[in-house]
Amino acid sequence: MHTPTDQSILVTGGAGFIGSHLAEKLVADNDVVVLDNLSSGRREWVDNRATLIEANIQDTQAVARAADGVDLIFHQAANVSVERSVDAPIESHETNVDATLRLLEHARKEDARFIYASSAAIYGTPESVPIDESDPKEPTSPYGLEKYTADEYCRLYHELYGVETVTLRYFNVYGPRQRGGQYSGVIDIFLDQARRGEEITVHGDGEQTRDFVHVEDVVAANCLAATHGTSGEAYNIGTSNSISVDNLAQLIVDTFKTSSSITYIDPREGDIQQSCSSIKKAHQDLGFNPNWSLDDGLKTLW
Ligand code: UD1
Repeated sequence: MHTPTDQSILVTGGAGFIGSHLAEKLVADNDVVVLDNLSSGRREWVDNRATLIEANIQDTQAVARAADGVDLIFHQAANVSVERSVDAPIESHETNVDATLRLLEHARKEDARFIYASSAAIYGTPESVPIDESDPKEPTSPYGLEKYTADEYCRLYHELYGVETVTLRYFNVYGPRQRGGQYSGVIDIFLDQARRGEEITVHGDGEQTRDFVHVEDVVAANCLAATHGTSGEAYNIGTSNSISVDNLAQLIVDTFKTSSSITYIDPREGDIQQSCSSIKKAHQDLGFNPNWSLDDGLKTLW
């Protein structure tokens, strides 16, 4: 069985981009509570069989109510933007670290399994690619450091208290419902610019690479992590393929035959250069196999 059944489940960020797809997958066979402040998520993305608690992840009373009696927690709520963490590091730390630690305390109290949305940003700029889970962690942004801290707390909660934790280190997730305005993911931003016929804005020289993984594959990884016995472990979740941001911009221009031109703007602070996952460990332990190629995924988004 690769999808949890008959469980009481909390999905934080469950009205948002990744969380709403995950909650949708779980809701038929489980009791699902969604905690979301609807900052980037939307009420209409929450299936009406799920219970929506509209609150901030830092609202301790709401979080306690949401976590009461749960068997399984998928923690997706976060500030997801590297740029925003550079602009407002304290706020980002409170959301990404403090709130995660409090949620881990609930997992400990409830004896709940805890699946954490970690990030490839924890590795910083790697010495070589593909990146292995045991490679050095040298984050280049507050965001990367926050995700690394919470990722380590998950390991520690398993070691110290026996909490069943799994951290999934997402590479660059894309797909339907990725909406974040200025702070959104690059594919969402480029597609938006291409649709409007505006200039596609590449930061720096565009040589930086990313490993884009479709949200449906990320949902599958979460379900595998919830149903496979391993805990206290961390897994890269990507595709093992990468593309430069420049080539991504060109691919979008070619695929959608837009009138947009590509323009180069200032490099972004905190940006990592190379990113490409090794997913051997997730494949071996969890049976993770991404199904979506970037070409196919992009075509469904136009
Ligand atoms: C992304 C995710 C982060 C995740 C991480 C894992 C978002 C917003 N961020 O960070 O949550 O943990 O992957 O690796 O989804 N770029 C441009 N032009 C633009 C916007 C971006 O050239 O208009 C470039 C950026 O400078 C960067 C690349 O595209 O080099 C990707 O940026 P972005 O989509 O924001 O993602 P990451 O910073 O990699």
